[in-house]
Amino acid sequence: MRRSLVIGNWKMNGSVQQMKSLIKDLSEVNLSSDVDVVVCPVSVYLSAAKVLLPKNIMLGAQNVAAFSDGAYTGEVSSTMLADVGVAYCIIGHSERRDYFSESNENVAEKVLKCLASELVPVVCVGELLEQRQSEQTLAVIAEQVDAVLSTVSDEQLDKLVFAYEPVWAIGTGLTASPEQAQEVHAFIRQKISDKSVDAAQRVQILYGGSVKADNADLLFSQSDIDGGLIGGASLVAESFAAIVNSAN
Ligand code: PGA
Repeated sequence: MRRSLVIGNWKMNGSVQQMKSLIKDLSEVNLSSDVDVVVCPVSVYLSAAKVLLPKNIMLGAQNVAAFSDGAYTGEVSSTMLADVGVAYCIIGHSERRDYFSESNENVAEKVLKCLASELVPVVCVGELLEQRQSEQTLAVIAEQVDAVLSTVSDEQLDKLVFAYEPVWAIGTGLTASPEQAQEVHAFIRQKISDKSVDAAQRVQILYGGSVKADNADLLFSQSDIDGGLIGGASLVAESFAAIVNSAN
């Protein structure tokens, strides 16, 4: 039985003051203890967030360097993230693939860095609208997933989290239907299963892309959807809590 996991991706939003007030609100809402909950503030606020977060909410980062510590101006290494109490790290979000030209190879390198620092990598995969329309969805997902699966060892497989985020659904108000999402989630699980049947049963696969309190229930009721990666709706404590509690 897989535990549910819901991750809030705060992206490049807010200020110290707004983060404090969101964390205060999150400490006051009821969050199901059957769901693992993570929030990912912008990197410059991670240390402050760690001090403020209640014990039932874990800390995640939105990105990590593909390099070890050293002369990489502007980058933040996985050891530094671990050092300030980060437990999870989003890797290969479509905004990073698109605006920062991150390739499948970069994603695989970052996954290895996270694993070496005992951070859980949350590997984002997803197709563009034109790829879905031309029926390339599963081919695109296969390439993105294989880049990671071919890099990690069988023992490391268990430590991965995947997030299926159709690019056309991110921040647009459009969501994949529960059936569309389930098809891709089952496909990802099958790919993991080709390497290890046991790991495939344990790896959490999240859905992301305009998840809101009113569509979360149906998405999370699908057998291969183990929770969500939430953008916009994670910036308001009540809506994030409602989504977390739907994953119960
Ligand atoms: P959204 O973002 O929920 O605002 O669509 C999801 C994400 O980018 O992870």
